[in-house]
Amino acid sequence: MKGGSIDSPADLLAEARERTLAVVDGLSESDVDRVIDPIMSPIAWDLGHIAAFEDLWLVHNATGIPLLREELADVYDASATPRSDRPDLPWLRADTARAYLEEVRERTLEALDGPNPPSGEIIELVLRHEHQHSETILQTVQLGRVGWEPSLPKPPEETAPGEAAGGGLDFLATEGGTFEMGAGPEGFAYDNERPRHEVPVEPFLIGRTPVLNGEWEEFVADGGYERGDLWSDGGLAWLEESGARAPGGWTDGGEWRAGRLEPLDPMRPVVHICLHEAEAFARMHDARLPTEVEWEFAATELADHSIEANLDTLARGSRRIAPGDGPLAMVGDVWEWTASDFDPYPGFRWHPYREYSEPHFGPEHRVLRGGSWATRSHVANPTFRNWDLPVRRQIFAGVRLARDPG
Ligand code: AVJ
Ligand code: FE
Repeated sequence: MKGGSIDSPADLLAEARERTLAVVDGLSESDVDRVIDPIMSPIAWDLGHIAAFEDLWLVHNATGIPLLREELADVYDASATPRSDRPDLPWLRADTARAYLEEVRERTLEALDGPNPPSGEIIELVLRHEHQHSETILQTVQLGRVGWEPSLPKPPEETAPGEAAGGGLDFLATEGGTFEMGAGPEGFAYDNERPRHEVPVEPFLIGRTPVLNGEWEEFVADGGYERGDLWSDGGLAWLEESGARAPGGWTDGGEWRAGRLEPLDPMRPVVHICLHEAEAFARMHDARLPTEVEWEFAATELADHSIEANLDTLARGSRRIAPGDGPLAMVGDVWEWTASDFDPYPGFRWHPYREYSEPHFGPEHRVLRGGSWATRSHVANPTFRNWDLPVRRQIFAGVRLARDPG
């Protein structure tokens, strides 16, 4: 919805497509057609997968019309083929993937106008799926440090750089209380956000902003990556295996910001840290990560939304957040690691497709909350639950600290 008018499904789908193509058109064709990083799909795979998902849900499942490219169903079924196996499959290269996207979209528009149109819920599912993949594509761009020059509108003006004091170590205390966690029964939400349920929240402190680059530079300078006492066993194993001594994307004095190397700005939230780094940083400061209960309580009951959220792929990275009231920037800028495993809420029922959440529940995945600069605003909200392995750094993820009172 923009300017009070309600966009039609066709308009919303067209807008998502415009952004996907703008993001991809900022890349060289050869970067779209290659494996940029072994943990990510080739970007052309994402394109074909977006088309296949749309054809499956909006055309085939809704109307019964056979798939346009039945022979590609397995190639683009993310649960049938893990990312590591995808390079070997016969995925469509960029130009044919674009043609596939277009052909499917024509079929979609016919289905929307036909006698058995897909439900509003399924349209949302497909729309949000494309939005989510535009962020996945940008993760690949950032991991590969490849050039990216899209034609996109300029982001809103940045806040002036504030005082260096405060930042992620400036805490707000709250008494907690009980609150309704998760998405209500009305409207679209992913299955893992339901059912809404009441949860008690003990008093806690929460960072007013995510941890900033400048604070992370001090962590590096103070030997944070060498001090074994700060790291969990899993963290130590990751340190040894990765050899990491700084967040992903950092170089000497610089930071990769989606296609460009820029001077490291101490006032921007740190990004591309894994869970283990987030935990080590918290331990250095006698803090911890918020649970997702605390995170959602803060985002719904305490957050100051007076600053426009940094979302929608425009800003090429996290924005300066002048420390002030808050908590600030809970939705947008950087995803925030939490202390919580990705578990179903009590009474969870998979819906409408089983593979979205259910196979991923369990202690191997940690929850991230909030959304990043590369998240489309339509999929960013305080109840959305993202998840990943504790060792992963491709996500545009940072951290907001929490503390127990006293
Ligand atoms: C919710 C971001 C973890 O990328 O695996 C895209 C989203 N699911 N296609 C993922 C998703 C199916 C999902 N995350
Ligand atoms: Fe997908």
